[in-house]
Amino acid sequence: MNFEKLEQLYEGKAKRVYATQDPEVVIVSYKDDATAFNGLKKGTITGKGAINNRMTNNLMRRLEEKGVPTHYIQELSDRETAVKKVAIVPLEVIIRNISAGSFSKRYGVEEGIVFEAPTIEFSYKNDDLGDPLLNDYHALALKLATAGEIELIKKYAFAVNELLKVFMKEIGIDLVDFKLEFGKTADGTIVLADEISPDTCRLWDETTHEKLDKDRFRRDLGGAEEAYEEVMRRLMGEQ
Ligand code: TMP
Ligand code: ASP
Repeated sequence: MNFEKLEQLYEGKAKRVYATQDPEVVIVSYKDDATAFNGLKKGTITGKGAINNRMTNNLMRRLEEKGVPTHYIQELSDRETAVKKVAIVPLEVIIRNISAGSFSKRYGVEEGIVFEAPTIEFSYKNDDLGDPLLNDYHALALKLATAGEIELIKKYAFAVNELLKVFMKEIGIDLVDFKLEFGKTADGTIVLADEISPDTCRLWDETTHEKLDKDRFRRDLGGAEEAYEEVMRRLMGEQ
């Protein structure tokens, strides 16, 4: 299919979204811009846009094959992909397999504790409020999604975790935690949307425990570009 890039509909912190001639299809264009702490920290990770685009598409295609519906349609170029137009459900869905980040901070525990079972939490996707944590009842009260949609989102999120853990283990990476977003297509179908990349996952080398993700930028560890390239190299080498 040939998708024509028309007017910009939206600009987020890491991506721009454009209309196409098909009202049910948009084009996402990934930027090299990196932010952390709700946009307070700003920078660039050179090459990140192209890596996140290609990595997200690789993973979404494989998830789709395993029965998880996604917004993915077609990779158009290094940085651009055609996806189904969705209304994003304003929930950030976070799954954790190992303690790290805000979990460690909130509960006062070290990073690296391997959980017996994964945890799930929701944040209200609202930059003005700083993406506050909420539970199913709050999400229902705020009419962010229906009870049925929340159940489906949880089911898909845990299914993504099981698959993604395997995909990462195959390339010598422990999947520590990650954030997903879901969207609703015109006919009301819930699909996995947004991205799956080192921006949105914590990825640790299984032997050295080296951080291969955006924590290198968030925590000023250096070597963010190299870390993104390393994950990409391992992932594409497996194809
Ligand atoms: P956290 O430990 O800071 O709550 O992050 C959990 C996971 O979610 C981690 O893999 C990074 C990802 N994440 C995002 O993708 N976007 C965000 O805005 C935040 C805060 C976290
Ligand atoms: N995406 C978030 C922001 O800009 C934060 C993060 O990934 O840590 O602020």
